[in-house]
Amino acid sequence: MTDNATAVNETPAGLTLEEKASLTSGADFWTTKAIERAGVPSIMMTDGPHGLRKQRGGNDHLGIADSVPATCFPPAAGLGSSFDPELARRVGEALGVESAIGDVAVLLGPGVNIKRSPLCGRNFEYFSEDPIVSGVMGAALVRGIQSTGAGASLKHFAANNQETDRMRVSSDVDPRPLREIYLRGFQRVVEDARPWTVMCAYNRINGVYASENPWLLTRVLREEWGFTGLVVSDWGAVADRVASLKAGLDLEMPSSGGRTDAQVVAAVRDGSLDEDTLDTAVARVLDLVRKAQARPAVAGPLDVEAHHALAREAAGRSIVLLKNDGVLPLARDTRVAVIGAFAARPRYQGAGSSLINPTRLDTAIDEIRALSAGEVTYTAGFTLDGTGDAAALRDEAVAAASSAEVAVVFLGLPAAEESEGYDRDHIDLPAAQLRLLDAVVAANPRTVVVLSNGGVVALPFRDRVPAIVEGWLLGQAGGGATADVLFGVVNPSGKLTETIPLRLADTPSYGNFPGESGHVRYGEGLLVGYRWYDARSIEVAYPFGHGLSYTTFRYGDASVSVRAGGDVAVTVPVTNTGQVTGREVVQVYTSLPGSAVQRAPRELKAFASVALEPGETAVAELVVRRADLAYWDVSADRWVVEGGEYVVEVAASSRDVRSAVTVAVTGDDVRLPLTMDSSIGELLAHPVAGPIVRQAMSGMADDMMGGTDAAGASMMAHDEGLRRMLDSFPIGRLTAFPGVPVSREQIEGLIAMANAQG
Ligand code: BGC
Repeated sequence: MTDNATAVNETPAGLTLEEKASLTSGADFWTTKAIERAGVPSIMMTDGPHGLRKQRGGNDHLGIADSVPATCFPPAAGLGSSFDPELARRVGEALGVESAIGDVAVLLGPGVNIKRSPLCGRNFEYFSEDPIVSGVMGAALVRGIQSTGAGASLKHFAANNQETDRMRVSSDVDPRPLREIYLRGFQRVVEDARPWTVMCAYNRINGVYASENPWLLTRVLREEWGFTGLVVSDWGAVADRVASLKAGLDLEMPSSGGRTDAQVVAAVRDGSLDEDTLDTAVARVLDLVRKAQARPAVAGPLDVEAHHALAREAAGRSIVLLKNDGVLPLARDTRVAVIGAFAARPRYQGAGSSLINPTRLDTAIDEIRALSAGEVTYTAGFTLDGTGDAAALRDEAVAAASSAEVAVVFLGLPAAEESEGYDRDHIDLPAAQLRLLDAVVAANPRTVVVLSNGGVVALPFRDRVPAIVEGWLLGQAGGGATADVLFGVVNPSGKLTETIPLRLADTPSYGNFPGESGHVRYGEGLLVGYRWYDARSIEVAYPFGHGLSYTTFRYGDASVSVRAGGDVAVTVPVTNTGQVTGREVVQVYTSLPGSAVQRAPRELKAFASVALEPGETAVAELVVRRADLAYWDVSADRWVVEGGEYVVEVAASSRDVRSAVTVAVTGDDVRLPLTMDSSIGELLAHPVAGPIVRQAMSGMADDMMGGTDAAGASMMAHDEGLRRMLDSFPIGRLTAFPGVPVSREQIEGLIAMANAQG
C-alpha cells in the first residue's frame, strides 16, 4: 500500500501497559505524550482548516485564546467555489509549509461535511452540498498539505451536519444517503489522498457515537476504504474510552488528565479489553510520530508576502458573480460610493476553532482606493453590532450614493450570527442592512451589492439591483480580491457549490432540522441540495454551479466514450467568445432514466476549471469514474453500477445544460441468492429460475383454460394487473394457497438448483 501502512502492525515492544494506555490520549490540548525512556517524542496538532491556529497562551479549542500569526486563506465556502483542485492543492502546500515552520505535525483539516441545511453554523468550513465537490477539493487540500511532510486530519467523520446539540445528537440517516451523500466525499479523500489522520465527529450516527462506532471507524473506513492512518477524536468526543478503542479510535484528544488512561489499563487487566486492540492503537500513534519526525526541516521565517499573495489569488477565485447587468467591471475613474461597514471592517473568516490570527488584513475600502483613479467615498451605512443611529447612518450613505456614479454596498452576516457551536434559525440579512440597500438603490440604481457571509442568505433584492457579488468569507486578502473583481483586474470565475434558495421553507431539510429529543432525521434522503430543488422543480434564487464572468463561453457538442475499466471520458470544446481572458467551470452531470432505484434528476460527477484567452477554444476533458456512477444497493450491501443508457449533461450550471449525450454503461453483475422470501418477479428475473417459472406459469394457465374457471385462467395468462401483483408475491407463501399445483419442496428444490447454477 502506501507509506501509511508502515509499521501499523509493529508491536510496541518495551512499553509498559500504563505507557501504552497513556500514548493513546493527549498530553494537553494539542500534543501527544512523549515517553522519553523509550525515545518517543511528543508531536503537535493544531487547527485548521484554512490557516494555522497555533496557540501561544491559554489553551482552548474554540479560538478564544491568542494564536501565532498565520496566513488566513479563504475558508472552504470560498475556496470550494473555485472548483479548482489545483488551487486547493497550492493552498494546502502553503498550509503545510506554515505547519512545518511552526513545528506542527498535523493540521486539523479539511472538513468535508455536506452542507445539508444553509442553517448549519459551520457551513463556512465546508465545501459543498455535493459530495464530489467536497471530495475532490478535500483530497486536493490534503495532497497539498501532505506534500510538505505535514499530516492532514480529515474531519468531521461523519454525518456532522449541524452544530445544534452536536456533541449528542443522533444523525438518523438511511443507508443510501449515508453512503452516496454523506460518506462519499470522505471516501474520495481517503482513497485518493490518504490523509495521515481522520477525526471522528462528536455526534451519533443512527444512535451510535461516531467515536464508538466500529461500523464507521473499522468496517467502512479501514476494511472497505483501506485507511491505514490514525483515527483521532474530535476534541472531547470520547464518551467511553474503552468502547472507542474497541471501535477503532486510536487517539483521544485533548488530555483527559490520565482519567481515561486508567480506565484502559483497568479494562486490559480485567480482561474486558483485549491488549492487542490497545497495541494496534499504540502502533498507529507511533507510526504517526515517526512520520512527523521524518518531515524535512523547513526554515522560517514565513514568507508573509508570498502567502498573502496566494491568499489574494485564492480569494479572487472564490468570488462568485451572481448577477451583472453590465455595471461591472468598474472603469478605474468611476466615482464610487463605497457603503457598508464590512468594507472597512471585513468579515473574512468564521468563529470557533478555525479562527486565525492573520498576518495581515486587507480592507476593501483601502484596496478599492488603491486601484481607483476616481473619487471614492466611504460611509458605514450601518454598524456591525446594530448600535448607533440607523437613520442618520442611512441618510449619510444615501447622500454619498446620490452624488456617485456607482454605489458599492457591502452587506453581510454579522460575526455573531454564524459560528461553530450553534446554528442559525433564519437565512436573512439584518433588516437594517436591507433597509439601507433599499434607500441606496432608490437614490442610485447603479448599485452593486457585495456579500460577506459563510452560509447562504436570502436575496430578496436580487431583481432590484444590477449586480451582486457573492464574496463568502474570503480570508485575510479578501479586501484586495474584492477590489480586483470590481475593477476587472480579476475576471470572476467562481461558481456556487451550494444552491441559494428563495426561502428557508424551500430547503431540503426544512422541518427536519435541527431535530429534537436527541435525534435529527435526514428525511430528505438522497435529495440534498440541488438534487432536491431539481426533483421538485422548485424555483431558486441562484442554482448550484451558477457563476458569471466578464466574458462569455460557448460550448460545442460533447462526446463520450467508455474507457477500459469503465470510466466514462467526456470531452467538450469550450470557446471564450468575449473580449477578456476568463475561466469557465465546466460541469458534468449524469442521470439514468428508468433506473430501478430512486435517483435525483441529475448528479454532478466531474468538473474542470478551464482558462481561456479571448477567442481561444480548448477541449475540456473530464472523467466520470465508474465508481461514481454506483449507487449503494441496500439489499446487496455494496456499491452497484446499474447498467443502462446514461444521460451525460455538460453544463455551465445545474440549470444551464449546454449539451447532452447518452452512453451505454454495462452494469455490475450482482445476483443475490434466491430464498423462499424472494418474489415471483425476482425469480422470473433470475437466469436459471426465470425460464422454469415462466414455463410452470404458462402450464398452470393452460390447465386452467382447459378447466372450469376459464375467466380465472385468462386472467392468469393475460391480465397485466395480476401479473404485476404476482411480481411482488413471495414465492414461499404461494403454496399456502389452495389449488396451487406446486409444493413447498418443489420450490425449495428449484431455489437450491438456481442458486447452485446461477
Ligand atoms: C472542532 C474541531 C477542531 C477541534 C480542535 C473541535 O471543537 O469541532 O474541528 O479541530 O475542536 O480545536
